[in-house]
Amino acid sequence: MKRTIRNVMKNINRRINKASLAVTNRRRKLSSHKKVLLVTGASGLLGSKIVKIAAKHFRVVPLHNTKPLHTHSLKLDITNAKDVSSLFHELKPYAVVHTASETNVDKCETERARAWEINVEGTQNIASTSNEIGAKLVYISTDYVFDGEKGNYTEEDKPSPINYYGITKLEGEKRVMENCKNYLILRTSVLYGWHPWRQNFATWIIDKLKQNREITVVQDHFNTPTLADNLAEMTIEAIQKNLTGLYHASGSERISRYDFALQIAKTFNLDLSLIKPVKMSQLKAWIARRPRDSSLCTEKIQKQLKTKPLNITQGLKRMKVEAEA
Ligand SMILES: NC(=O)c1ccc[n+]([C@@H]2O[C@H](COP(=O)([O-])OP(=O)(O)OC[C@H]3O[C@@H](n4cnc5c(N)ncnc54)[C@H](OP(=O)(O)O)[C@@H]3O)[C@@H](O)[C@H]2O)c1
Repeated sequence: MKRTIRNVMKNINRRINKASLAVTNRRRKLSSHKKVLLVTGASGLLGSKIVKIAAKHFRVVPLHNTKPLHTHSLKLDITNAKDVSSLFHELKPYAVVHTASETNVDKCETERARAWEINVEGTQNIASTSNEIGAKLVYISTDYVFDGEKGNYTEEDKPSPINYYGITKLEGEKRVMENCKNYLILRTSVLYGWHPWRQNFATWIIDKLKQNREITVVQDHFNTPTLADNLAEMTIEAIQKNLTGLYHASGSERISRYDFALQIAKTFNLDLSLIKPVKMSQLKAWIARRPRDSSLCTEKIQKQLKTKPLNITQGLKRMKVEAEA
């Protein structure tokens, strides 16, 4: 009996030693000369680009929820306040880029409780924990905080969201401002770019046209589409320059979805005639309302950064070059 107890104790001690060695090794790895940068939503479109670009300057720790994109990615459900707190206290990052979100606008409309939990309470968890450990927090927000009646929105314009996604993202902004001293909020618009498995507007158009499928695209819906790689570069430069407050960080060109689709087709030498214009009011597939013109004015951030917001031609050209590389 005594022997069994001794063996059990030995086993437990061995396990504890092994676990603390793993933590020490993780800390040692992270304590090299580069500052630690945490990226939530690293498995998403923008998060994946930030991980790639930030690696030159920071020791990046990518965080995912359900599907890791990077071999060294750690799982973190941002709605679990305890897990957020223990991971942040363990890794003590210099900065956190919070891109994780429920980004499906129609899903936010139909699954409101879940959207609130992720976009508001999850953001609150990230904001208060970042503040506790003295980390800088960059929160990625959206042009959908506006109602779309004016267009070319500046940071001074009053938000007035018309769908639940916009409501949760705006509330997320408030939680960041109220709970974290050192914050930067970047509002962006229609992200596009390559991702191993996630579709966005540009990759969806390319896929459908390659399959010779006819598609309908709205002609009275305007944004400032943003190449995710370009926003990732702006984000990293903004952290290095320690920008704080609220900025609009999107592409530099206002365009309708229909004209954007035509430009995508032209850039990738695909058949333009397959793209049919349609009015927003005729679209049956959308559940949530969309702002008519939520284009963003990027003058404020342009004055602060060397990295400039790209126009449509520049963004699509970069995407094409990447595809051919
Ligand atoms: N996409 C756009 O056109 C657009 C426009 C304006 C603003 N934004 C904002 O830009 C940011 C990035 O958008 P994106 O399109 O790059 O995102 P995305 O590709 O849709 O990826 C969303 C990410 O959020 C993660 N996530 C979702 N629920 C989570 C949870 N409970 N805990 C932890 N992580 C969770 C997902 O992780 P898993 O996949 O691992 O589950 C995924 O990595 C978002 O904040 C969005 O609101 C996007």
